[in-house]
Amino acid sequence: MGYAQEYQHSLTDPDGFWLTQAQNIPWYEPPKVGLDQDENGAWRWFRGGKLNSCYVALDQHVANGRGDQVALIYDSPATGVVQKYTYAQLTQWTARIAGGLRELGVGKGDRVVIYMPMVPETLVAMLACARLGAVHSVVFGGFAAPELAGRIEDATPKVILSASCGIEFERIIPYKPLLDEAIKLSSHKPLHTVIVQRPQVAAAMQDGRDVDWTELEASKNPADCVALDATEPLYILYTSGTTGKPKGVVRDNGGHAVALNYSMRAIYACEPGDVYWAASDMGWVVGHSYIVYGPLFAGCTTILYEGKPVRTPDAGAFWRVLSDYKVKSFFVAPTAFRAIKKEDPDCLLKAQYDLSNLKYQFVAGERLDPPTYHWLQKHLAGVPIIDHWWQTETAWSICANMAGIELLETRPGSPTLPVPGYDLRIFDDDGTELGPNQEGSIVLKEPLPPGVFSTIWGDHDRFIESYFSQYPGFYLTGDGGYRDEDGYVYVMGRIDDVINVAGHRLSTGQLEEVVAAHPAVAECAVVGINDVDKGQVPLGLLLLKDGVNIDHQELQAQLVQMVRDQVGAIANFKRAVVVIRLPKTRSGKILRQVLRKMIDGQDYVVPSTIDDPAIVDEIKAELVQAQVMS
Ligand code: COA
Ligand code: AMP
Repeated sequence: MGYAQEYQHSLTDPDGFWLTQAQNIPWYEPPKVGLDQDENGAWRWFRGGKLNSCYVALDQHVANGRGDQVALIYDSPATGVVQKYTYAQLTQWTARIAGGLRELGVGKGDRVVIYMPMVPETLVAMLACARLGAVHSVVFGGFAAPELAGRIEDATPKVILSASCGIEFERIIPYKPLLDEAIKLSSHKPLHTVIVQRPQVAAAMQDGRDVDWTELEASKNPADCVALDATEPLYILYTSGTTGKPKGVVRDNGGHAVALNYSMRAIYACEPGDVYWAASDMGWVVGHSYIVYGPLFAGCTTILYEGKPVRTPDAGAFWRVLSDYKVKSFFVAPTAFRAIKKEDPDCLLKAQYDLSNLKYQFVAGERLDPPTYHWLQKHLAGVPIIDHWWQTETAWSICANMAGIELLETRPGSPTLPVPGYDLRIFDDDGTELGPNQEGSIVLKEPLPPGVFSTIWGDHDRFIESYFSQYPGFYLTGDGGYRDEDGYVYVMGRIDDVINVAGHRLSTGQLEEVVAAHPAVAECAVVGINDVDKGQVPLGLLLLKDGVNIDHQELQAQLVQMVRDQVGAIANFKRAVVVIRLPKTRSGKILRQVLRKMIDGQDYVVPSTIDDPAIVDEIKAELVQAQVMS
């Protein structure tokens, strides 16, 4: 079956399509129902089916004779360690850790926060939670203590797993002081923390509360997989919304396993035994879906890389890993290739490595800018460069060129066509559907396919309000774009206050909260502006309080430090400019889109609701003088 038929089938008979896909994973009780609605009116998949995601990821492969196949390769230029684990070893290790967690009181439905670096223990911790039916919530290691505290407060975990440190190039980042600080800031306190002591740093332990990871490993009672209903939650993953408070995206067990397993074959063209690599972090959705769950569900070998594209040790690092492990499908954010391109513009380091096993190059996380696309096409000649578009909320692609079904023509700047299950439309502000080449809001018609989130943790109203209230019956992606005359989708960027910095999703509201707390700042706007390396970077525009007399460079330095301490270095907040006024609507809303487009040199429309039209030219002159215009 070609792409067009497969896609059509998924829309005309979603139940039949996905119940067939559901047969490709093991169930304790196979689902009889595809789609139905829960008591909140939300669409749910496979209710009544019983499974365990850890069984699907690990035990089934041992039961099916793949126990000796390598499941995980840990490659860490950060520490000089390479370690391989078979499916049998990973299953036993995970069962012991699950047993240890159970002894600490963790059971079905309990939340467990995981704040860990890119080490195998993180993957094992996630799967151990899944094994028990506990709900994991992984927090990216680059977030500062207050961000971690907010997530602890919201998820109310019984236990938090962490490690003594992370490694950023030559810098060792002690995690335990950040964790202790976060627990102090949160009104919710976990019963225990479990700490992996890495050789680089010894974490100070608190008697009675903190447990060494090796104690869990020594558990005499390994835990079996618990049978869960398909609609029970597997994990919560916090992502940035338009306000400062992150949203806890809740993922079901059943739909997730079916969708990800399907995607490994249909999108990434991977079969059991193939080597697949997603160079991301387990703290992001890409890491959840395609370092941990997807490749393991499908019986592939997955790679956990604790390093960077450059300086670990050089810009040939990715080519080395691809060659050493004979990777078939590789997935990474374009920003990583821009980092390589900057250091090795002619891609000379690649010549040392044999990339003959690489069949597909996938990119996502931000727009694949045409220069990076052409650079990749030139240097990976013969390997299709496949842009695909997705979000934390969906867990897997909304649009992709489905290499495992039918490889279509690629077009620079487009992630190709919608994936089966996604009925995609372009709407104007009034909800009128737009035609070819007309840019608008990208929306998805309900019901959405399996794998997509079912609610926001503890706040179903926010789920409805954020995603389904603007166009009832349609999911608002928050991205803008258009389709060409052949239906190819072009995703042009966020139309809300979310920004994308080096593939990291951030909310300008979250940054504004920090900046506005400075005693000299009366009001501020943070906008994401184009950056040649990071895609976007935040820029702060500040109004000072009357009578404040502070050196602007000194103020900027203080704000940079505040953002690093309260959000994290990953925000890449480096510039703040003082202005006399900010453009606002009559109701007081700051016109961030106008500011962003003005700075990026794009066309902008000043809305008729603007409070004082004269301010637009005034602020433009100020921004020119501050040398922030591109
Ligand atoms: N823990 C602590 N600090 C971290 C961190 C972590 N896990 N990750 C990044 N940081 C720090 C960096 O060290 C850097 O600090 P500095 O300002 O003191 O130099 C800062 O945060 C900015 O990081 P980043 O913008 O990520 O730059 P980088 O040079 O560290 O890495 C890339 C560049 C391209 C490797 C990285 O941005 C990347 O992997 N991006 C893709 C993200 C991704 O996979 N997204 C998912 C969608 S596919
Ligand atoms: P995240 O939830 O962190 O994965 O970020 C999702 C956002 O990243 C999307 O809403 C888009 O704005 C952006 N994004 C992800 N993939 C792509 C892509 N292939 N093209 C354009 N934007 C993308």
